[in-house]
Amino acid sequence: MREMAGLFITFEGPEGSGKSTQIRLLHEILTQRGLTVVATREPGGTRIGNAIRNLLLDPAHTEMSPRTETLLFQAARAQLVDEVIRPALVAGQVVLCDRYADSTLAYQGYGHGQTLGALQQLGEYATGGLTPALTIYLDIDVRVGLERKRAGAAEEWNRMENHALAFHQRVRSGYLALAVAAPARWLVIDAAQSVAAIHAQILARVTQLIEHHT
Ligand code: TYD
Repeated sequence: MREMAGLFITFEGPEGSGKSTQIRLLHEILTQRGLTVVATREPGGTRIGNAIRNLLLDPAHTEMSPRTETLLFQAARAQLVDEVIRPALVAGQVVLCDRYADSTLAYQGYGHGQTLGALQQLGEYATGGLTPALTIYLDIDVRVGLERKRAGAAEEWNRMENHALAFHQRVRSGYLALAVAAPARWLVIDAAQSVAAIHAQILARVTQLIEHHT
């Protein structure tokens, strides 16, 4: 889907990897450089997507079946693609998305053991085949990440974070496997570094991408 005028960049990582901070910094600098940037997140980013998000992340919903969970993530994604991401790309804008289809592969696939092939097919359907030009993966030791997230008082402690440490470790190794399988699309960054150092690495790669893109 690179034929669209805009640039689609996604951010992935385990809990507490610092995605939102890095998205904010990248958003600021690209805007200063005169680009129109849309930042959004999954699950959510639309009215319907936010309603689905509340269903998904409510800690009371302990009975949710893994397939229901997958379909709800994909439903929120389909709405976000159609309502926000695709129109922005068609208009030539830069889209920064906090989590996308790779999150389902990492969490529902590697984490919960659902079949990767089925998840990939559902992802294709939900996104209409829209793949990011670049996926920035912020890699963090899951214990450190979960601790960071717990320390952020304003952050809600959601249902996904209540899973055992082993689940989050599978998610992290799943991400690393996905990155190794498609190195041209993934930028893997050690998220234990300072915010400024991480930002510099992201900006260098994105600048390069923009130069080649235009
Ligand atoms: P959120 O509070 O947005 O967490 P984060 O700041 O880490 O992005 O909650 C999103 C949670 O949903 C997070 O635990 C990851 C999980 N998730 C999936 O399991 N599958 C998915 O497809 C997506 C998009 C998110």
